[in-house]
Amino acid sequence: MYRMSAHRIAVIPGDGIGPEITEATIAILESVGFHAEWVYLEGGLSSIEKGHPAMPRETINTIRELGVALKGPTTTPVGGGHTSANVQLRKALDLYANVRPARTLPGIEGPFADKDIDLIIVRENTEDLYAGIEFQPHPDMAQAVKVITRPGSNRLCAYAFDMAKRQGRRRVTAVHKANIMKLTDGMFLEEFRKVAAQYPEIKADDIIVDNCCMQLVTRPEQFDVFVTENLYGDIVSDLCAGLVGGLGLAPGANIGTNCAVFEAVHGSAPDIAGKGVANPTALLFSALMMLRHLGHNEMADRIQKAVLEVCAEGHFLTIDLGGKASTEEYKHEVIRKATA
Ligand code: NAI
Ligand code: MG
Repeated sequence: MYRMSAHRIAVIPGDGIGPEITEATIAILESVGFHAEWVYLEGGLSSIEKGHPAMPRETINTIRELGVALKGPTTTPVGGGHTSANVQLRKALDLYANVRPARTLPGIEGPFADKDIDLIIVRENTEDLYAGIEFQPHPDMAQAVKVITRPGSNRLCAYAFDMAKRQGRRRVTAVHKANIMKLTDGMFLEEFRKVAAQYPEIKADDIIVDNCCMQLVTRPEQFDVFVTENLYGDIVSDLCAGLVGGLGLAPGANIGTNCAVFEAVHGSAPDIAGKGVANPTALLFSALMMLRHLGHNEMADRIQKAVLEVCAEGHFLTIDLGGKASTEEYKHEVIRKATA
């Protein structure tokens, strides 16, 4: 296999099943000729156990310098003074857009298996009720502040429409509750409409979040791209992951102005760590988003096609999908198909 690319990519294998699925993912990428200098970095519980912070400065600085990272899940210890590695990374690199595709895969069972779902959620990742401004003015009352800014809403919507255009998508739908949250969600919607006006070729519309959830569990195939605030996006994106087969298949990307961190939606799965049975597909699909981000669409397509075939045939599914295959067996089958 000749070398087609000279990228330097940061890798945080992370905790639990992280190292296992990272190894499988990188092996599959390399099998189709994607070669990079993988710069391995510390992060998560394994970093704490070595006496370092959950998200060391050096890790953050290296990702900032390289611009692209592939990240395995990191365990956040409960209690103690440990801020989650993910929260620190998101803040330090200002990763303002969380992008999560949800797509029906052939051969994957579930209540929505007969629907043709192919949607992407673009979620704001730094503002809203998750800005963490809470106080308790009285022992019997606690309050939280919802923060929505014009620039924050604008850059998110701009990313969503730009992504939709690049991917040839036809429709972007804003998800909100502006009928009740008139100032905050109203501002988000104003910025959405301003940005939409610059993309006349893409249909722009909006939907109230509760109706959106109802429509998602009745006619999910009607949607294309969603753009939404942090809280609604958190909930709606998990709903969408559930529609198409769950955590083992749900990829994601965290996008900033100068950096992008690609990681699965799921966590470190301590209950199955070290057993060699984890499903690497979610991280692999995240890595395919990374390949497309880097302009290697053909290699991404080739791997994606191989995964779809493996799913459709059903002989090498991992345990979470009702199969019997180990991580290794699944990996080898994807590589066999991708390189056939
Ligand atoms: P989890 O996603 O790790 O696991 C939930 C369930 O799904 C478990 O039964 C697990 O075995 C299964 N599962 C998850 N991914 C799988 C895969 N690839 N293949 C097969 N089965 C899979 O969520 P949980 O248990 O709530 O969190 C565990 C740890 O992960 C916590 O410390 C949490 O803070 C961390 N976490 C980290 C994230 C990240 O780094 N992005 C995201 C979510 C949780
Ligand atoms: Mg969530």
